[in-house]
Amino acid sequence: MAFHLHIGVLAFPFGTHAAPLLALVRRLSASTPGIRFSFFNSSASNSTIFSARVSDSCDNIRAYDVWDGTPEGFSGSHFEAVGLFLNASPGNFEKAIEVAEGEIGLKVSCLISDAFLYFACDLAEKRGVPWVPFWTAASSSLSAHIYTDAIQNAEGSAETADKPVSFIPGLSMVHFTDLPPEIFLDKNPSPLALTIYNMVKNLPKSTAVVLNSFEEIDPIITKDLKSKFQHFLNIGPSILSSPTSTNPDDENGCLSWLEKQTRPKSVIYISFGTVISPPGNEIVALSEALEALKLPFLWSLKDHAKKTLPQGFLEKTRDFGKIVSWAPQLQVLGHSSVGLFVTHCGWNSVLESISSGVPMICRPFFGDQKLNGKMVEDAWKIGVRVKGGGFGKSETIEALNYVMSSEAGKEIRENVHKLKEKAENAVKLEGSSTKNFKTLLQIISAPK
Ligand SMILES: *[C@@H]1O[C@H](CO)[C@@H](O)[C@H](O)[C@H]1NC(C)=O
Ligand SMILES: *[C@@H]1O[C@H](CO)[C@@H](O)[C@H](O)[C@H]1NC(C)=O
Repeated sequence: MAFHLHIGVLAFPFGTHAAPLLALVRRLSASTPGIRFSFFNSSASNSTIFSARVSDSCDNIRAYDVWDGTPEGFSGSHFEAVGLFLNASPGNFEKAIEVAEGEIGLKVSCLISDAFLYFACDLAEKRGVPWVPFWTAASSSLSAHIYTDAIQNAEGSAETADKPVSFIPGLSMVHFTDLPPEIFLDKNPSPLALTIYNMVKNLPKSTAVVLNSFEEIDPIITKDLKSKFQHFLNIGPSILSSPTSTNPDDENGCLSWLEKQTRPKSVIYISFGTVISPPGNEIVALSEALEALKLPFLWSLKDHAKKTLPQGFLEKTRDFGKIVSWAPQLQVLGHSSVGLFVTHCGWNSVLESISSGVPMICRPFFGDQKLNGKMVEDAWKIGVRVKGGGFGKSETIEALNYVMSSEAGKEIRENVHKLKEKAENAVKLEGSSTKNFKTLLQIISAPK
C-alpha cells in the first residue's frame, strides 16, 4: 500500500495513557487509509499492537519502540520511572521518528502526542507541521492546569485551602484542596509537575487540543477553553463512538457471575485502576462494610493486596461476593446487574461509568483524581466521595447505603442516567463529538 502522508504519534507509557491514544489512532486510521501512523511508545507497545492486529485491520498503524530511560535491571518506583523517561525525552522520540521516516520514505506531516509530551510542540515547529496534543483526562483538570499561574497567585495571597477557585469558569465549586497537586509547583517540583507546567505554556501553540470527553458535560469550561485554543475538540466518549465488538477476555468468570445476579442494579463493582492499591487498613474497612451490608459485590483486587483482607472474609462473603485479580471493566459496568462503581476516579473509569449510567463512590489517590471526585459529587451530582478521604467502616456503609438505596440517592441515580444520554447524543451523527472528530480528520489529513 502506498501512503501519501505519515503521522507520528508520541505516547506517554505510564498508567492508562497509551491505550486511549492508541484507541484514538485506530479510530482515525479507519477513516484515513492513505495515511501511515507511526506509534512511538516504550518497548511493550510493539507487542501490544501487533498482538491485537490479528483481530482488526490496522495495516496503516505501525509501532516503534522508544527508549524508556531506565538503566538495566531498574526496580524503582512508578514516579522514578516517569522521571527517568522524561529525562530521556525527546531524544528517544527523535531517534525513533527518524527511523520511521527512513523506513517508509516519508517525513511526518503532523505530530499527535500525549499532551504531557509538550516537547512535541518544538519537534512539530521545527518540521513546520501541526501539533495535535491529546489530553487523556477531563476538561475540568485541563482547565485547572491552564489556570496554574492564577491559582498560584491567589494561593500566595490568603488563607485559601478551603476556599473555592471561583475565578475559574466552570470550577467555581472546586476548592484549592481538590486541585491536582502538580499545580502547586513550588511545593511539589516533581518532573511530572514541571512537565505539565511546560505543557500549559505550549498548548496555545497547538493546532488542536483533543480529549476523550463530550462538550455537554462541562459547557462552561468548554466555552472558556475554546476561546484559549485554536481548536478544542471533545471527541468522546470513545467507548460509545467506537465500541469494541470483540468478546472480552473473561478468564475470571466475572460476566457469568453477573449473569447469576438476578436483581438489576444490585451489584457493587470495586476497582482502583492499574496503578494503585488502597492502604491495608482501608481494604479492611471496605471489607467490613461489605460484609456488614451483605450486598452483592465484584471486587477487582490485585493479588498482593488480597493478603490484607481480614481473616475469614472470603468464606463469609462467598455467597454474595466475588474477588478477582482482573475484570473486563467495560463489560462489567455495562451489565444490567451492576448498580454502583467504587472507584479511584481516574478519568477513563469515570467516563466508562458515565457511559454505562452507573453512579460512583469515589476514593481518589493522585493527579486529577481528587478533582474528578469533586466534579462527580458536586458538579455532575452522580456520586459521592467517601467522607474523610479514605475508607472507614461506618463512612463506607453510609456512602454505600446512600447511593444504592436512599431516597436522596435517587437523584444521583437519575442524574447519571441523564448524563449518559447526553454522552450518547454527542456521538450521534449530528452530535458535537462527531462534528469535532470530522474537524480533527481534516486537520490531520492536510498535506504538509
Ligand atoms: C506502551 O508502553 C507501556 C510501557 O512499556 C506499556 O505498558 C503499554 O501497554 C504500551 N501501550 C501501547 C498502547 O502500546
Ligand atoms: C514489532 O513487531 C513486529 C511483529 O512481531 C516485527 O516485525 C517488527 O520488527 C517489530 N518492530 C520493532 C521496532 O520492534
